[in-house]
Amino acid sequence: MTVRGSVAWQALDAHLQKDILPYSLKQLFNGSGAQRFNDLSMEAMGLLLDLSKQKMTPKTLSLLIKMAEQQGLRQATQMLYSGGEINRSELRPALHTALRDSSSEKYSDVHVDGQNVKQLVDKNLLDMERIASKIQKGNWLGYSGQPITTVINIGVGGSDIGPNMVCHALAEFRLETKFPLDVMFVSSMDGSQLAEMLQHLDQGSTLFIIASKTFTTIDTLANAETARAWLRKKIPSDSLIGQHHLVGCSAFPERMAKWGIPSENQISLWDWVGGRYSLWSGIGLPIAIKLGMANFKLLLKGANAMDDHFQNASLHENLPVMLALTGIWNINFLGLKAHTILPYDGRLKLLPNYLSQLEMESNGKSVTNAGEKVDFDTSPVIWGDVGANAQHAFFQLLHQGTPAYYADFIVPIKRTASSEYTKATRTQLEYQQSLNLANCVAQSRVLMLGDDVLSWDQSIVTSPDRLYPGNHASSTLMFDELTPESLGRLIALYEHKVFVQAVVWDINPFDQWGVELGKQIAKTTLNAIQKRQLGDADAEDATFDASTEGLLNHMFKHHH
Ligand code: F6P
Repeated sequence: MTVRGSVAWQALDAHLQKDILPYSLKQLFNGSGAQRFNDLSMEAMGLLLDLSKQKMTPKTLSLLIKMAEQQGLRQATQMLYSGGEINRSELRPALHTALRDSSSEKYSDVHVDGQNVKQLVDKNLLDMERIASKIQKGNWLGYSGQPITTVINIGVGGSDIGPNMVCHALAEFRLETKFPLDVMFVSSMDGSQLAEMLQHLDQGSTLFIIASKTFTTIDTLANAETARAWLRKKIPSDSLIGQHHLVGCSAFPERMAKWGIPSENQISLWDWVGGRYSLWSGIGLPIAIKLGMANFKLLLKGANAMDDHFQNASLHENLPVMLALTGIWNINFLGLKAHTILPYDGRLKLLPNYLSQLEMESNGKSVTNAGEKVDFDTSPVIWGDVGANAQHAFFQLLHQGTPAYYADFIVPIKRTASSEYTKATRTQLEYQQSLNLANCVAQSRVLMLGDDVLSWDQSIVTSPDRLYPGNHASSTLMFDELTPESLGRLIALYEHKVFVQAVVWDINPFDQWGVELGKQIAKTTLNAIQKRQLGDADAEDATFDASTEGLLNHMFKHHH
């Protein structure tokens, strides 16, 4: 039996019919007055989570908590933190929390495959620091003696999205170096990003980080080969290339070595760190290079504070638990299958994409841990953009379209403009932040109230084609300022949210078998394309469906 057949689920169903469905969001507000905000918002570690614009009451949360308890949330959390084999399909732990706990002794007794987790993490931080500071000080020299001034991270998925998102979000915190130091990211399999970049770069001052947990991902290895071909044009030997221009991060040192990355330029990773949970590991090296190790450690510190909160706060006051249960309520009871992430901050532009991997790759599952087919929805479709930009793009659908969705508004309150700007520029930037805050709050209000907002503000004139149905649920997450620490907290908040949902649904959030078949079939397809290019189509061992055959033929016709 899945969670759907449980007593807790049935209690929630009954509550939905009786206490929620008969009412609109506006009515839920009218019924509880100002108290509703107090009842349905909570604050911890400088983060305010307002759930009052969700179609729920305090009773909903209590019933959801009962369901989480029934599903063994506390025991599962304990298992996660203590290094139990929580990734059941791959029989391994998921110990990303250990990566951000270097200052305590919590993990000093945790061992995986006979290795002490704390010692591995501590050594890794030292390796990262050694490499990052050598580059930052201008002491990492290219083959010809020039300092490295451009670092390109080649990776994909978790080996790209997380570090890229953080580097973009915290660019204002970049370490001051005596010379301009660029950190860039390349992921696309087609080589287009890399090809564009290489045109403007010089081999002597460029360093590539080859970031791949498995070191078998074809996207990354293909880009890495292209980078090496470019390096070979100027640099006389592969050993000089490896020594001066390559750094690797992987769980397979022998694969890095075979590929040409010398051991002193390697950073370790381990099975027990999932790709999409790996920005806190050596995969975060680009962050440490761009922002400095001190800021990287502040990011870890922020995440660690959220880890402690998640482990210790009561379920009622637990931010990840509340965010997760709200999602479950929306997905499973209110039938909302799409979730939009709206950061009101240009620096968080890459956050929606990051969260779409985190959530959809983790919880985009349809069998339980026992192998039973689920009879309810799991991860919704996640998409988003900078909120204020999205207002001029997909908000039309949010306000007047037909699909059912819910939204997360995420906004830092303050922005500290650099003191290097003139007073006038700073004043203007402050005004822009007020404008941004006003839009954030106004939009969630209009989504909730629709046309009814007019009765509160008679100056707005309406016409029939301007109907706003409203009654759209959203959460708002507000925090003081975007800093390495607050970003660390925010990311860990969502990581744990995903975990809580997986526990309630009894699915495994730490594997991703769904992406494997496509990779395998792409190999056979590549083989067919290459044979056709050589005029050897008869030697193909694969047969294709009519559509694939048609597409391959069309490609081939236009390739020549
Ligand atoms: O294909 C999915 C995936 O395995 C992700 O989970 C992972 O983040 C990404 O590919 C990259 O994998 P790797 O770091 O092993 O190259």
